[in-house]
Amino acid sequence: MAVKIAPSILGADFGNLENQIKKVEECNVDLLHIDVMDGNFVPNIAFGPDQVKMLRDKTNLPFDVHMMVQDPDRLIGRFAEAGADIITVHQEATTHLHRSLNLIKSYGVKSGVVLCPATSLSTLKYVLDEVDMILLMTVNPGYGGQGFIENSLDKIRALKEMIKGYPIDIQIDGGVNLETAPKIVEAGADVLVAGSFTFKGDIQKNIDDLRRVVL
Ligand code: DX5
Ligand code: ZN
Repeated sequence: MAVKIAPSILGADFGNLENQIKKVEECNVDLLHIDVMDGNFVPNIAFGPDQVKMLRDKTNLPFDVHMMVQDPDRLIGRFAEAGADIITVHQEATTHLHRSLNLIKSYGVKSGVVLCPATSLSTLKYVLDEVDMILLMTVNPGYGGQGFIENSLDKIRALKEMIKGYPIDIQIDGGVNLETAPKIVEAGADVLVAGSFTFKGDIQKNIDDLRRVVL
């Protein structure tokens, strides 16, 4: 199956956001990745449920909401109601991961778990039935434009092996570009998040180039 592409609007020009979202939609990307940052779990702040709601009628792209939020259960309902189609929560940010994932599903939204680069895959063993997607961070979360952490490739391969037989997508977030994308896909990724790569320069050309190198 073709690799899915999810531009991260954190890399977009915020003064021109609606336009930039329209552009990526015209490129037939698969998901719109929205980074939610609480200034606590990560040092940066971005996007609340009200902003997600404002964007909802601007595009038909599915919203992939990446919650970099401590104790995400407090806000899952608000993002679901704002129009999220997929919500991912960090394993490191919730005490009761199983409960958080089921809370997401209770809103009819697809659920996913995110692991930071230093977090072991073993934490996923008992939630594989609860998730539609697993997001491996290939940078430390909080900022766009960081360099890809190379040992993530082994982690992707190991995850691919671990989820054999489960209908789970592997999503990769951080440092995706023309050089890293082929290796990431070869290791087993299904969904590529790309922030700074997508929005720097000519969006259409960037997406075309990305598709070309992962064919
Ligand atoms: C980082 C965010 C990413 C970010 C990726 O914490 O989760 O989604 O936008 O940016 P790039 O693609 O520039 O590494
Ligand atoms: Zn993200």
